[in-house]
Amino acid sequence: MDKFDRVGAEFIRNSLYSHMEPTPEKQGAPFPDYLPPNYPDSDLIPLPDPTQSNLGHADLRQIIEQRRSVRRYDENAALSMEELSLLLWLTQGVKKLSEKTGRSLRTVPSAGARHPFETFLAVRRVESLPIGVYQFIAHKHALLPISSGEEILGQIGAATGNQAQVLTAAVTFIWTALPYRTSFRYGARAYRYLFLDAGHVCQNLHLAAESIGCGVCAIGAYDDEAVNAALGLDGQQQFVIYMASLGKKAA
Ligand SMILES: Cc1cc2nc3c(=O)[nH]c(=O)nc-3n(C[C@H](O)[C@H](O)[C@H](O)COP(=O)(O)O)c2cc1C
Repeated sequence: MDKFDRVGAEFIRNSLYSHMEPTPEKQGAPFPDYLPPNYPDSDLIPLPDPTQSNLGHADLRQIIEQRRSVRRYDENAALSMEELSLLLWLTQGVKKLSEKTGRSLRTVPSAGARHPFETFLAVRRVESLPIGVYQFIAHKHALLPISSGEEILGQIGAATGNQAQVLTAAVTFIWTALPYRTSFRYGARAYRYLFLDAGHVCQNLHLAAESIGCGVCAIGAYDDEAVNAALGLDGQQQFVIYMASLGKKAA
């Protein structure tokens, strides 16, 4: 057994399922906030209503069978806001929300419906959106501008070791986790569920993208601290968990 496996085995041991775990929820702690931390309710950019969109109605079996990781994008083709809206809807869209508990039902499953993610977008080519980083405000289906300009996109690209598909993507999705939303209910077990949840989200992005002529490459190789720093995250209460580059497929 290698030292990496020993670290992994310890992680697995420390996150075994137990009904007895004295989680914050069992101890009567208040529900964690379902809103993204520190976001102003103003300056939001509304997205077109995805439920009214005719895009993306494709044969599921064909979509699944033809999906590949796509690393070359048409650098002359921008995404429309309607397409971006649909991709955000199909990856994190809120179908139902309880204001009291923050419990939401979305287009993806999540352990205990805790939905621990906040989505950031590194936008290079989306019609009518200036280059920069935006946060998706899921319960409003709107975008919050975070930082404009090429520089932050360069930092994010560098954090992935300058992977070409990130440097040329129309949009790179950056999913961040707020672990307390899940550990509130599941304790240390949450740290397994976060990664399982993230897989569902990225798979939905793969399939949704395929249905509108876009391609995706999942990105797991990145410098966590550098991505967190670029997004202003502390790396503990909120941290990057997964990324994916996306663009119109090159001919
Ligand atoms: C968790 C995960 C992390 C990945 N990270 C990267 C990455 O950093 N860079 C990359 O080029 N591909 C990455 N990939 C894509 C895989 O290389 C790809 O899925 C695999 O080669 C199989 O090819 P296919 O997706 O076309 O079937 C990742 C895939 C997964 C599921």
